[in-house]
Amino acid sequence: MPLHTQVDESVQDDELNVNPVYVRELGAEIPRYRLPANGMLPRAALQVVRDELILDGNARLNLATFVTTWMEPEAEQLMAECAAKNMIDKDEYPQTAELERRCVNILSQLWNAPSGSQATGCSTTGSSEACMLGGMALLWRWRARRQAAGQDTARPNMVMGSNVQVCWEKFCRYWQVEPRFVPMVPGRLHLRGAEAAAQCDENTIGVVAIMGSTMDGSYEPVVEISQALDQLQAEQGHDVPMHVDAASGGFVAPFLQPDLEWDFRVSRVASINASGHKYGLVYPGVGWVMWRTPDALPDDLVFKVNYLGGEMPTFALNFSRPGAQVAAQYYNFIRLGRHGYRQVQQACRDVALHLSAGIAKMGPFELLTEGRDLPVFAFKLRDDITGYSVFDVSERLRLRGWQVPAYTFPADLTGTAVMRIVVRNGFSMDLANLLLADLRKHLTVLEHHPQTQPPPEIQRKRQSFKH
Ligand SMILES: Cc1ncc(COP(=O)(O)O)c(C=O)c1O
Repeated sequence: MPLHTQVDESVQDDELNVNPVYVRELGAEIPRYRLPANGMLPRAALQVVRDELILDGNARLNLATFVTTWMEPEAEQLMAECAAKNMIDKDEYPQTAELERRCVNILSQLWNAPSGSQATGCSTTGSSEACMLGGMALLWRWRARRQAAGQDTARPNMVMGSNVQVCWEKFCRYWQVEPRFVPMVPGRLHLRGAEAAAQCDENTIGVVAIMGSTMDGSYEPVVEISQALDQLQAEQGHDVPMHVDAASGGFVAPFLQPDLEWDFRVSRVASINASGHKYGLVYPGVGWVMWRTPDALPDDLVFKVNYLGGEMPTFALNFSRPGAQVAAQYYNFIRLGRHGYRQVQQACRDVALHLSAGIAKMGPFELLTEGRDLPVFAFKLRDDITGYSVFDVSERLRLRGWQVPAYTFPADLTGTAVMRIVVRNGFSMDLANLLLADLRKHLTVLEHHPQTQPPPEIQRKRQSFKH
C-alpha cells in the first residue's frame, strides 16, 4: 500500500464541504484529516464518501488491471454475507475452512497434481503473498539442503526474467535473496530455457517461470525451462526446482490450453500460485499457492491454529482476513463448473483476438502479442511514427474513460514503449468495438495534430499506470 505522510499543519484543519441537505444541523463539522468530535447519520456519511469516490475511474473500463471488476449479484450478495467472517478463525467458522479445503482440492486437479501426492496448498490475499510463500519454501529447502551438507548458505539467488511482476523483486529484497534477472531482448520478451539455466549455480534456490507475463500476456515455456535445468543437473549436478507464477494463467490454461504442460505434469515444478481475483473471477483479494508434495513445504514454516478441538496447519504472512473471497471462489467453481470457466475465458480470448486484429489493421501499430495465451496483448507504434507516442494515445483514450496503460519495457528493452490491453470477464464484443472506434478517432486527431515529444530520456521514464 502507498505510504502516506502526515499532511502539512496549514491544511490539518481543512474541512469537507458538505451539502446542507445531507445534514440535520447546518454547519456540521467534518474535518478532512482529523477524527470529527461527533458523528453523523449513516445516510449522510454514505453520501459524503460516495461523492468523494465519483472521481475514481470506471472499473469496467479499466483495461490495465488483471483483477476482477465484475461479479454477478448473487456472488456479491454472498460476499456481503461473509464479509464479517475472519478466515483465520478456523474454529469459529469451520465451514469457511471446509470451502477453502475444497477449493485447494479443485485446484490440485486443475493443475494436475499427481494422484496420491498429497499436494498441499492454501488461500492467500493474492498472488503477491502466494509468491512470497512459494519463494520462502524454496529458500528454506535450499538452506536446509546446504546446511545438511555442511555448505555455505550466505548467498542464495533466484533466477527469473526481467519481465517478472514486482512481487518477485520484493521477495528477493525482503528475504535477502540475490535476484538474477534474465534481460529481455528484441524477439525474446520473456524467459527461455537456455538463458535461465545459464544463470543458475549451486546457490540458486529456484527458477520462476511466469504464466503469463505481466508485460504482454505471453506464457513462458515451462517445459523448455525444465529441460534446460535437467541438462544443467546432468552436466553440473545442480538440482534447481521451479516455481510457476500462474497469477493469471492458473485459471486460464486449464480451460483454454488443457494440453499445454506447464503445471505439476512437469516434474521439476515444485509449487504454483494463482490469483483467485484475476481469472479466478473473484473480487480482490484472494490468491492460491500449492506445493506438489507436503515435503516441498518445510515444516518449520507451518503454524497451527485451533480447529474443531484439534489443530489446523496454516501458512500465511498475515493473520486476519475476510472469508468472503474464499466463499466466492467456491461459489464460482460450483456456479460455472469446468464448462462455464472455459466459456468465460474463451469469450475473453475471442474479444482479445478481435481487438488485437482490429488494432493491427489500423496501420500505425505493431502487435507484440495477439492475446492467444492470456487474453492480454501488447502493441507499440511503428518506428516511423514520430508525431505522437503511445503515452499520447493512452491520454486521449482517457478522455472517454478508457484506461489503457502505456509503459516502457524493463531491462534491456527500456527504449520500447508499449500499450497493453487486458480483456476480462464483462468486457463485451460491443465494448471492444466502441474502443476500436474511439481509438481510430483519436489516431486521426493525433495524425493531424502531432505532439511535441519530450526528449528520449524523459520519454523512457514516462509511465502511465501498469501492474
Ligand atoms: C505474473 C504476476 N505475478 C504476481 C502478480 C501479483 O498479483 P496480486 O495482485 O494477486 O498480488 C501479478 C499481478 O498482476 C502478476 O501478473
